[in-house]
Amino acid sequence: MTTLSHRHNRAFLPEKLLLPRDFFVPEVMATKTPLALEIGAGRGKHALSFAKAHPDCHLIAIERTKNKFMAFEKLALQSSFPNLTAIHADAIAWTVFALPPKRLSKIFILYPNPEQKNPNQQWLNMPFFEFLLSRLQAGGEIILASNIEAYIDNGEAQAREVWQLQVERSSVPSDSQRTHFEVKYLARGEPCWELMMTKPIGYKTRFDDWLPKEN
Ligand SMILES: C[S@@+](CC[C@H](N)C(=O)[O-])C[C@H]1O[C@@H](n2cnc3c(N)ncnc32)[C@H](O)[C@@H]1O
Repeated sequence: MTTLSHRHNRAFLPEKLLLPRDFFVPEVMATKTPLALEIGAGRGKHALSFAKAHPDCHLIAIERTKNKFMAFEKLALQSSFPNLTAIHADAIAWTVFALPPKRLSKIFILYPNPEQKNPNQQWLNMPFFEFLLSRLQAGGEIILASNIEAYIDNGEAQAREVWQLQVERSSVPSDSQRTHFEVKYLARGEPCWELMMTKPIGYKTRFDDWLPKEN
């Protein structure tokens, strides 16, 4: 059994967050359909191709920036995959209010903002990461990609030492085209890396029984 040592972690306070505007819980949440989450989906290139390639898995793809979300929403409406939900929200607040514990089989964080001047905002440095882990099933995976080697180095160290996850690090193939940022970086000849982190069986967090109060 893995029980997190909380020595390094400031606690995340989900009760302080406000309900996102126009919030709704997608119907898929109450079903047994496998569920994946994408944080920072941009214009939705990965979300659309994932939904097409994995009809048995429902993807909830969240983007905070309005113009990017509008471009994504337009494509999502045109393609109308029944297994894709596009959400315009901050992924932190949305996750807190919408996702029950251990519901997700996969989480994608592809080319997150580098936050080099504000490393506290890198996903694996945030107290929220513990909450996110509580929403992942045992054996579920988090896939993180970046063109910033220092982001991947720090993410790998945090994943192993603080979050006690199984981690595989790899190079993104030069012909990969999952997202707009990936296409841009690889076309410039920049190397990109990926971490695949797996939640061990028996893993415990402080949020395993936490649910939001009725709104
Ligand atoms: C560098 S872009 C990458 C977009 C896309 N994944 C790609 O690779 O083309 C990072 C995206 O994450 C979004 N983002 C950052 N923090 C977010 C949050 N808390 N909730 C939702 N989206 C977020 C930003 O708005 C931005 O569109």
